[in-house]
Amino acid sequence: MSAGPIALAITGASGAQYGLRLLECLLDAGREVYLMISQAGRVVLSMETDLEPPAHPQAAEAWFRARHAQAPGRLHLFGPRQWNAPVASGSNPPQAMVVCPCTTGTLGALAAGLSSDLIERAGDVMLKERRPLILVVRETPLSEIHLENMLRLARMGALILPANPGFYFRPRSVDDLVDFMVARVLDHLGIAHRLVPRWGGGPELD
Ligand SMILES: Cc1cc2nc3c(=O)[nH]c(=O)nc-3n(C[C@H](O)[C@H](O)[C@H](O)COP(=O)(O)O)c2cc1C
Repeated sequence: MSAGPIALAITGASGAQYGLRLLECLLDAGREVYLMISQAGRVVLSMETDLEPPAHPQAAEAWFRARHAQAPGRLHLFGPRQWNAPVASGSNPPQAMVVCPCTTGTLGALAAGLSSDLIERAGDVMLKERRPLILVVRETPLSEIHLENMLRLARMGALILPANPGFYFRPRSVDDLVDFMVARVLDHLGIAHRLVPRWGGGPELD
């Protein structure tokens, strides 16, 4: 896979840590990131972590850049109505988009093609342009609507990668569980990592 920008949307499902850790790993891998955080995503982030990024997109971008020691150019944060963002158009799509974590609300909006905010529009662009779209859905239990929406999106080419960590590698901490999920996302993005040992003891990616 070529090393184009990765769009990362953090929505308001439980598991903000997954999105934050993925962001960290993408930046560590030297990837350009287009970050979007839904309004509910910000609420959940502040409930599940000690972080309080500012609401305004420009201030939030500066805040995340400072947190990850990123110079301008690598990390861009776009607000929900920022229709001039590259992710809003099929003429300039990112290499891949990940919604992590993904709510059933955003899942439903994507399945219905609503495009009512930038996250939904960016996902819609990925689907119409047949680009990789990874949805780290988190909810339990799942209703028929959720299941049908997942099937619908899977049939359209999206990858449904539920936030569903395995325990066979004997996690010792919440961080281990988070890394398990992030590792699976990075695998699908074709980005090398050493987050968790590989099953079967095969060679690590370099
Ligand atoms: C603490 C908290 C946890 C939540 N967890 C989930 C969840 O795991 N899955 C889900 O689909 N919605 C969850 N929600 C509800 C969504 O945040 C809500 O439906 C919101 O409208 C989704 O908007 P978004 O898709 O634009 O982020 C949670 C809300 C809160 C406040």
